[in-house]
Amino acid sequence: MKASPPADEILDSLTTTILLVELDGTVHYVNGAAEAVLATSAERVRGRRAHDLLGIGAPLQVALAATEENRSTTLRELTLKQFIGGQSLVVDCTVSPFGWDGAEKLALIELIRVDQLSRFTAEARSQERHAVTTMLTDRLAHEIKNPLGGLRGAAQLLDRELSDRESKEYTRIIIHEADRLSALVDRMMGPFTAHKKTWFNLHAVLEHVRRLTLADVQEGLTISRDYDPSLPEIMGDRELLVQAVLNIVRNAVQAMGGRGEIGLLTRIRRQFTLGNRCHRQVLEALISDNGPGIPADIRKNIFFPMVSGRTGGAGLGLSIAQDILSRHGGAIECVSQPGDTKFFLYLPVVE
Ligand SMILES: Nc1ncnc2c1ncn2[C@@H]1O[C@H](COP(=O)(O)OP(=O)(O)O)[C@@H](O)[C@H]1O
Ligand SMILES: [Mg+2]
Repeated sequence: MKASPPADEILDSLTTTILLVELDGTVHYVNGAAEAVLATSAERVRGRRAHDLLGIGAPLQVALAATEENRSTTLRELTLKQFIGGQSLVVDCTVSPFGWDGAEKLALIELIRVDQLSRFTAEARSQERHAVTTMLTDRLAHEIKNPLGGLRGAAQLLDRELSDRESKEYTRIIIHEADRLSALVDRMMGPFTAHKKTWFNLHAVLEHVRRLTLADVQEGLTISRDYDPSLPEIMGDRELLVQAVLNIVRNAVQAMGGRGEIGLLTRIRRQFTLGNRCHRQVLEALISDNGPGIPADIRKNIFFPMVSGRTGGAGLGLSIAQDILSRHGGAIECVSQPGDTKFFLYLPVVE
């Protein structure tokens, strides 16, 4: 049998915030997630009182007292003020008795972020939707491409038979439109082509897109950068990621009519959950713009193919970007209101 991993390792990999306290609230131990939530280190909180740390007095006292009678209590939707980055945090807090033979009785406090839970469900829904769309586009592409080839071939044969210019014009239209449809299908299937995986720095991708964009539209557009220089390299298909970022940045430029501000920001998130997996490190790239925002009527569906708010838009850019991110084990999220649109790209760091 393999040796079990040390309990500390397991506790530190959990996304649940765990504090082990004495019955008067004195902190004995906190896990990695707790350090992140409390924005401090285990050493600094040891010996302090949980009441003060969490800013909940009476309800915690009652819950701790209940553990003496071997009862667990869950305090629902507590708002903890001024946590990570000064933001308040909504949590469900469960206080349970914890002890082993001969040892002093302790209590286990678990905090589960409620906003995080709703993010998980939204993410799960988006992944499900993504799987359905991928299947649909696969099927659709298959159904369209085969007959299209036949159609084009027949038009070509017909074209040879015809002698007058006017009739030939019709066959040329058929051939031209068949080619256009075929190219559209290829674009929908685009990211399905072979992967070329290498190690690279995400900043190289962002910088590449920045240069391309500024070369396209010089005046009235600024692209600011706020990069975390300690970002580790990731393994993936650099060209595909350039495509994903380019699709997002291009949308921003188009929405702003070429004039405005785009921001590129990178950060590392620790103990971050994507899909069902908690990753030690996840890269976050935030692409923001101060344009008009995503039209309200399509805001919920922008990652679907064929959804576009632009006349003449194919509505493929974001669905392709989402596909590329998900092929790298990552995800995209978007929040938008007039004057402030943000696309968050998450990529796990595989060690
Ligand atoms: N930064 C943004 N600001 C405003 N609207 C946006 C932004 N990004 C995307 N959109 C909206 O989402 C739609 C879908 O984008 P996309 O999938 O790239 O398709 P397309 O660009 O072909 O329309 C766009 O047409 C636009 O209406
Ligand atoms: Mg687009």
